[in-house]
Amino acid sequence: MTTENGAAEHILVSQEDGIMTIEFNRPDKKNALTHTMYNTMIDALEQAEAESTVRALCFRGAGTCFTSGNDLKDFLANPPSDEQSPVMRFLHTLIDLKKPIVAVVQGPAIGIGTTMLLHCDIVLATPNAAFQTPFTKLALCPEAGSSFLLPRVVGMTRALSMLLTSQNIDANTAVQWGLVTELIPSILLDTTVQERLAALAALPPEAVRVAKALIRDPLRDATHDAVEQEAVQFMQRLTSDEAAEAMQAFLEKRTPDFSRFG
Ligand code: COA
Repeated sequence: MTTENGAAEHILVSQEDGIMTIEFNRPDKKNALTHTMYNTMIDALEQAEAESTVRALCFRGAGTCFTSGNDLKDFLANPPSDEQSPVMRFLHTLIDLKKPIVAVVQGPAIGIGTTMLLHCDIVLATPNAAFQTPFTKLALCPEAGSSFLLPRVVGMTRALSMLLTSQNIDANTAVQWGLVTELIPSILLDTTVQERLAALAALPPEAVRVAKALIRDPLRDATHDAVEQEAVQFMQRLTSDEAAEAMQAFLEKRTPDFSRFG
């Protein structure tokens, strides 16, 4: 699949035995997601939905990380400004996807790396997976519908802990809290993922879509609304002096100093 800026290799899209796999492939930057990568993924999602041979989708990350979330440098250079921004279009397309979505998480899943899982239907993870939504730490706010869906998935108290304090959640906790469907020993990951995907692809596709719709549809409009409301705040936060300090500090590998802010 081709993308602008010659960054096609940062998202690898493949299709085999009824499964479209979308792989974040930028391991030197911990698979941080740029607007170009979102654009490639939107094309892939639309293709997956249109092609009857695709029965399910699978997200995974190359290397030691699922994804470190939005690329902070790219976010500063190309801040999403409206609903047509690649990250927004990606989220709305993901939320509307009728086919089942599987995510395979190894290592850290940060920011949208965690919040996108709320729109995936099955989350498989290895024991070294870790989940974090460091929005307040970055002077941002919840995104991807997480302010609406996360309390419904893990409960209000746990969602507050994750979204307000950026609490890091280990894989065992994530299974207990219902963020992850199944924990798989690293050594068995590839064979188990293949078995789970093959089983999913072998099910009658319309029955699977109907089941997904019955579960997801009652929350769908409210999820889109949450994404939009969060985005208004998020875009303001992104251009705030607090966020500039937080992101500069990360890129300069220093501790941020928020003491001057009231
Ligand atoms: N955006 C931009 N660059 C990122 C990034 C991100 N979200 N996450 C990692 N990188 C870059 C680092 O700047 C570093 O680049 P460099 O080699 O040019 O210095 C490289 O990826 C490796 O990251 P590093 O932090 O050295 O790896 P690590 O193994 O010590 O830690 C993480 C991995 C994922 C825990 C850590 O990189 C991290 O916390 N990233 C930021 C996550 C984040 O805040 N995401 C945004 C949420 S909205």
